[in-house]
Amino acid sequence: MTLPVMVTGAAGFIGFHTALSLLKQGKTVVGVDNMNPYYSVTLKKDRLKLLQAYPDFHFHEVDISDRESMNDVWQAHAPIHYVIHLAAQAGVRYSLVDPYPYITSNIMGFMVILELCRYQPGFQHLVYASTSSVYGTNKEMPFSETQRADSPMSLYAATKRSNELMAQSYHYLYNLPVTGLRFFTVYGPWGRPDMSAFKFMKAMLSGEPIDVYNHGKMARDYTYIDDIVRGILAALTHQPKGGNEQMHPVYNLGNHHSESLMDFIEILEKSLNINAVKNFLPMQDGDVPATSADISAAARDFGYAPSTRIHEGIPRLVSWYKDYNKL
Ligand SMILES: NC(=O)c1ccc[n+]([C@@H]2O[C@H](COP(=O)([O-])OP(=O)(O)OC[C@H]3O[C@@H](n4cnc5c(N)ncnc54)[C@H](O)[C@@H]3O)[C@@H](O)[C@H]2O)c1
Repeated sequence: MTLPVMVTGAAGFIGFHTALSLLKQGKTVVGVDNMNPYYSVTLKKDRLKLLQAYPDFHFHEVDISDRESMNDVWQAHAPIHYVIHLAAQAGVRYSLVDPYPYITSNIMGFMVILELCRYQPGFQHLVYASTSSVYGTNKEMPFSETQRADSPMSLYAATKRSNELMAQSYHYLYNLPVTGLRFFTVYGPWGRPDMSAFKFMKAMLSGEPIDVYNHGKMARDYTYIDDIVRGILAALTHQPKGGNEQMHPVYNLGNHHSESLMDFIEILEKSLNINAVKNFLPMQDGDVPATSADISAAARDFGYAPSTRIHEGIPRLVSWYKDYNKL
């Protein structure tokens, strides 16, 4: 029995893979998730089943914005010295449809996590998920952490940028060891059905057209899930130095290869052996045409070295998708 690592959003895409990796290393994991129906709860339950095969996985179905329940979970496993905070209302586009869960989960939920960590004697490190979306209208490529990030194009991005500012205040006031990670379009097996790779596969396999925004003139720094998990765990062991005069560290975790959306679709077509019928559409509100990550800070500080390009990652995703859906 080791000191537990709390993973919030453990039934989610990145949380599941992170928790699994920790369990495989023999760590004890306290998983938290509210199992909300933003997308298939069956998929979330299926991920959990794999985690629950490990006796050192302790799961609590709790909302992170419910401070009493979160305090009970914390006390039941105290002391907790490490937290990987991944629970959030994700998705740029949905924040234009229903903004409220973004405030409850991403702002209030993050507040609760900060307070729990703040009062834990001997607390070692809080690592939390931010996003490439914080770069907003920034046109300078690749996106670097030294660039300004004060022009969010969606409420989702605004809540994540707020998390970075909230974390900074706790780092400054209470010397909280905290690190933010800006993820760039993560994809892979067990991924989120609201993300384009999944929407494309579903439509292509049922002979329906796929929606291609900005007439295909989009580029993303697609990052394979295993690379992201390695980055998260490496960041966890790289505790920021004390001294509240410094800014708390925030790192880009991308792949450092911006790929065109049309190339992404072409590899998907080859992997599925299906030619997609493309429905070319204008740019969507809240979306950015391109992302590209400068990952030199993460490489320098904790050896982050993503190695999976889309021509390897997409076939693995397709193979899992067919297997999971018994196709
Ligand atoms: N996947 C990406 O490409 C990507 C990119 C940038 C940032 N992120 C961030 O990474 C984190 C993980 O993303 P993901 O892709 O795994 O998303 P996900 O939706 O699969 O996982 C998030 C999990 O958090 C849970 N959750 C949401 N609100 C909660 C609440 N109030 N209380 C408890 N649990 C709650 C959900 O049920 C879900 O299982 C999120 O913070 C997301 O914003 C993801």
